[in-house]
Amino acid sequence: MLASAGDGYISGEHISKTLNISRTAVWKRIAALKKEGYLIEATTRKGYRLLSRETCYGKSGIQSLLRTEYLGRELHFRQSVESTNNVMKALANAGAPHGTVVIANEQTKGRGRLGREWASTADKGIWMSVLLRPDIHPSRVQSITLAAAVAVCRAIEPVLAEKPGIKWPNDILVAGRKACGILTELSAEVEKVAWVIVGMGLNTHFKPDDFPEELRSKATSLSQHLVRGAVLDRTWLAAEILNQFEPVYEGFVRNGPEAMLAEWKERSVTLGKRVELIHGQETVPALALDVGEDGRLVVQLEDGSTREVFSGEISLRYE
Ligand code: BTN
Repeated sequence: MLASAGDGYISGEHISKTLNISRTAVWKRIAALKKEGYLIEATTRKGYRLLSRETCYGKSGIQSLLRTEYLGRELHFRQSVESTNNVMKALANAGAPHGTVVIANEQTKGRGRLGREWASTADKGIWMSVLLRPDIHPSRVQSITLAAAVAVCRAIEPVLAEKPGIKWPNDILVAGRKACGILTELSAEVEKVAWVIVGMGLNTHFKPDDFPEELRSKATSLSQHLVRGAVLDRTWLAAEILNQFEPVYEGFVRNGPEAMLAEWKERSVTLGKRVELIHGQETVPALALDVGEDGRLVVQLEDGSTREVFSGEISLRYE
């Protein structure tokens, strides 16, 4: 209610009538929100007012914007953690439900794919992990990563001046540089998945100089590509990613990967391009032909033969 009142005041009486709770209960809830970190001004006669929209970045602000059935309904918001994927692993092993979400304002040991570090500075991005417990064969899990990439693109597209693209396997590029990465981890028996953690890292408010030196030529941040008049609000964006992810994921689980894959391909900046496969010290030139439903990339090598590559073993560079 405070967020939708914008810069205006909302009276304690109005809140109490709308929520059908006593004035003391209203006061208690305001106190709880303040404890969560929200800057709320209380003025006699006028009522309550939220002082800054960005301070909504917290559990209540994000949940108030959710349209999902289960994604983010259990949400843990932390100021600083080593890695949201690690926090989620502990929760998953302790039985946390399907759809649980962990979001942190900062990660001190953010992890990227292939054992890399992931720069996760406070206030500069969305560092989020989603727990899923799909009833699928472990070989199909990679599709969930593809679905997450599609969902992130859908969510960020409206605020951007240029269309985001997906670089196989799951990097989201804006103007040719990486703005988002996804790290999917799973626990499974031979035939059955116990849990999948989809970790998403989205650079939102980095300035070019904020990135570590070695990333400056490769990484970017949404704030550098906003369409005129757009407001970049992490609260809205985190909720919107979850709002978009749930239907894409449900479509995949219920009807198979076709629709999701078609959208992934339409958004891909890899297919049809000449690339270099990087495996350790070795680089091999190839043409990216297609992506399979299990996330494998089909490439044609220079001798005309085709080869399928898994995301876990190879990086790509455009020639
Ligand atoms: C990549 O290398 O492209 C994947 C980056 C994934 C980063 C996210 S941030 C939230 C989650 N927690 C982590 O430690 N990593 C993922």
